[in-house]
Amino acid sequence: MKTKNVDLKKIRDEFPFTKNNIIFLNHASFGPIPQCTLKAKLEYLKYASLQKTQNIDQMCFDILDDTRKKAAKLINAKTEEIGYSFNTSYGLNFAVWGLDLKPDDKVLLSDVEFPANVYPWLNLKSKGVKIKLVPSKDRFFDIDKFKKSIDSKTKVLSLSYVQFLNGFKNDLEEIGKICEKKDIFFVVDAIQGIGNLNLDVRKLKIDFLSTGGAKWLLSGLGTGFFYYSKNAKKKLNPSFFGWMGVDWKVDFTDLLNFDLDPFEDARRFATGSHPFENVIAMHTSLGFLLDIGIKKIERHNKKLLDILINYLKDSTYKIKSDLSPRHRSSILSFTCKNSKNLFEKLTQKKIISSYREKAIRVSPHFYNTEEEIEELIKILKKNA
Ligand SMILES: Cc1ncc(COP(=O)(O)O)c(C=O)c1O
Repeated sequence: MKTKNVDLKKIRDEFPFTKNNIIFLNHASFGPIPQCTLKAKLEYLKYASLQKTQNIDQMCFDILDDTRKKAAKLINAKTEEIGYSFNTSYGLNFAVWGLDLKPDDKVLLSDVEFPANVYPWLNLKSKGVKIKLVPSKDRFFDIDKFKKSIDSKTKVLSLSYVQFLNGFKNDLEEIGKICEKKDIFFVVDAIQGIGNLNLDVRKLKIDFLSTGGAKWLLSGLGTGFFYYSKNAKKKLNPSFFGWMGVDWKVDFTDLLNFDLDPFEDARRFATGSHPFENVIAMHTSLGFLLDIGIKKIERHNKKLLDILINYLKDSTYKIKSDLSPRHRSSILSFTCKNSKNLFEKLTQKKIISSYREKAIRVSPHFYNTEEEIEELIKILKKNA
């Protein structure tokens, strides 16, 4: 892959394990932290350990704002619509508790959602809110069944951009239109698509989106962000609140001031002090990804998976992902008679994938190579 400023060899230097014959194809589980991000995070921690942190408030808040700006760029949102969070679940809980749902209101989910987008909603049962799982078809979200599940009590749909187990990319545009027409608040868990697929919230009718940064965004644990649309602002208020939800203008010398109003924008959801070492990590990784370009990443990952698909199609393996262009992502799942054994064999050979719902899940990213996919195929051929 060639980009404006970087080539694949240089990019791979950011991931030293690639020199130890480790073929990492598991970004749907966890994204390795690039060297540039590690360095930035360590520099901050070094600062902190040397007690040099006194005068860096302004720098830290500037980096936080620039991180929000970069996150906004990733999804074509505005900086003010982006808030920092710590993982996907944390952001989703803002929607769960901030929407003021009433007894008998209905929330629709898919029956093949990752649990991070199910358990927070189930907690609403204590308020008498009804949680309904829309049945999938062949483990893919089914728009017709979704339409049939809607009634006058349906207030929310919360759905993944890309399904974790088979990489099914949901048609958010079509689903968003239905939500808008039926006045259903549309929440998206974007973690499996963000950083590897283009996502334009301006074009889609998403009300609220949450993502963690530890997978495709290569930012490590304790990172994430959420998108709080204009429409969301009319319906969703912070359910819990803290001193970082108001604007101190980075001046912490007059703190006995309890009359400050919440931020107008997504920062109103902030509670206490920010984990700046994590913010800095995400700031660096987002910059790294944006420099390469998400559209390029999308094309690159597709090309790699095309090679694998071409082999699998004419083999005894069964592809479990939807291969229509509309529903493809950077995740591909397949099975065979002895999937679990094969998964273990791959791991022994230092080819890192994951085993989910009896299928092998492969999820390459921008620094993986065609040769690495060929290595995987060699083992698949021996196993077939
Ligand atoms: C679709 C999806 N949502 C959420 C998560 C993780 O949620 P959190 O970031 O809250 O740990 C995962 C995977 O771990 C996932 O696949």
